[in-house]
Amino acid sequence: MKRTLIKNIKTLAGIISNSNTPYLNGNQMASLESIKDAFLIIKDELIDDFGHMSELNYFDGFDMIIDANEKTVLPAWCDSHTHLVFPNTREIEYIDKIKGLSYEEIAKRGGGILNSAKAMQYASEDHLYYEAKKRINEVIKWGTGAIEIKSGYGLSTSSELKMLHVIKMLKQDEQIEIKSTFLGAHAIPQEYKNNRSAYIDLIINDMLPNIAKEDLADYIDVFCDKGFFTVEETDKILNAASKYGLIPKIHANELDYSGGIQVGVKHKARSVDHLEYVGDAEIEALKNSDTMATILPGAAFFLNMPYAPARKMIDAGLPVALASDFNPGSSPSGNMQLIISMGSILYKMLPNEVINAVTINGAYAMGLETSLGSITKGKKANLIITKPISNLEYLPYAYGENKVDTMIINGHVL
Ligand code: NIG
Ligand code: FE
Repeated sequence: MKRTLIKNIKTLAGIISNSNTPYLNGNQMASLESIKDAFLIIKDELIDDFGHMSELNYFDGFDMIIDANEKTVLPAWCDSHTHLVFPNTREIEYIDKIKGLSYEEIAKRGGGILNSAKAMQYASEDHLYYEAKKRINEVIKWGTGAIEIKSGYGLSTSSELKMLHVIKMLKQDEQIEIKSTFLGAHAIPQEYKNNRSAYIDLIINDMLPNIAKEDLADYIDVFCDKGFFTVEETDKILNAASKYGLIPKIHANELDYSGGIQVGVKHKARSVDHLEYVGDAEIEALKNSDTMATILPGAAFFLNMPYAPARKMIDAGLPVALASDFNPGSSPSGNMQLIISMGSILYKMLPNEVINAVTINGAYAMGLETSLGSITKGKKANLIITKPISNLEYLPYAYGENKVDTMIINGHVL
């Protein structure tokens, strides 16, 4: 058994005492329980105890003592939506985009997701693995302690399986928690352009059984949006996936009022993500669900999309998570500190709300709420120790600066 003490913590933030709290919604999101002048004890990989320094009455028997001094401690970020296994970056399209082409126009010309899918055919598992590993190491430095990764640049059975094998290897090798999502329905491949239903049959009859056989996915995703997959197609795919016990986390309402949110809620999706096009009907559907509304500010910023009505959603009582959407086409960054700055500046979310959105709510959005996402006894010690900062508001405020001093993952100081 290894015991670590972190003492003299300026602010210990993100405390949730009740370990049965799955997520925070509505006005709960504006409070972030914290203790000033705190200590925290880690036993092996778990949070064992915490409290005010005056309550700490023993200093013996620790294998390591960290004096946090002017530093703040928070739960590490839970980034619940990424595509960080990809073969190549796509800065060429970025130039087209600057010149005025829309995401849909780029996609129609065979760019976008299909561009990555072409490169994916020739990419080796080793190449994909090492590039993804570099990206993971980089995002950990910015505070990420758990991450979801999707397939979806394969679009053929062998390439989708290749991506999922890489994610599986990363799961085994990385210290941070990784969840894997099968996104075969990310785009219709060129060769199925005039026969969409044949591609959907391929997903259902070939990809899904193979994935289930090797237990390669925790979740199923569909890009349910204008120009991609219809509600009916999404429904069909989610029905098939449910036979293998795969819960949906879907791309919805990024490009239009697509019906993606409603079909996601119908299938008890863990999360619906993007949400640029959200009106009263979508909010109403989400209200009667346990589906996490997940906003991806990086993609909206990068593609000049309208911003999801985060304020309206929170004020209506919904829970909101924020995630990076790290991918080569619409959000080439996994920096969650930038995401919380965007959440507050562009979406008018309060500092406490953005922090809850990337910790407990992000954890819920990938099914990790019982083990991560808050300072709770018995949860994993995946923690951020910040540089000396004046207060918590400084985190979203200083948007260009890395405020992480030290990361602790599974109780280990990195
Ligand atoms: O989440 N919206 C769909 N898929 C990705 C983009 C993927 C890409 O362009 O490579 C997203 O933004
Ligand atoms: Fe995405």
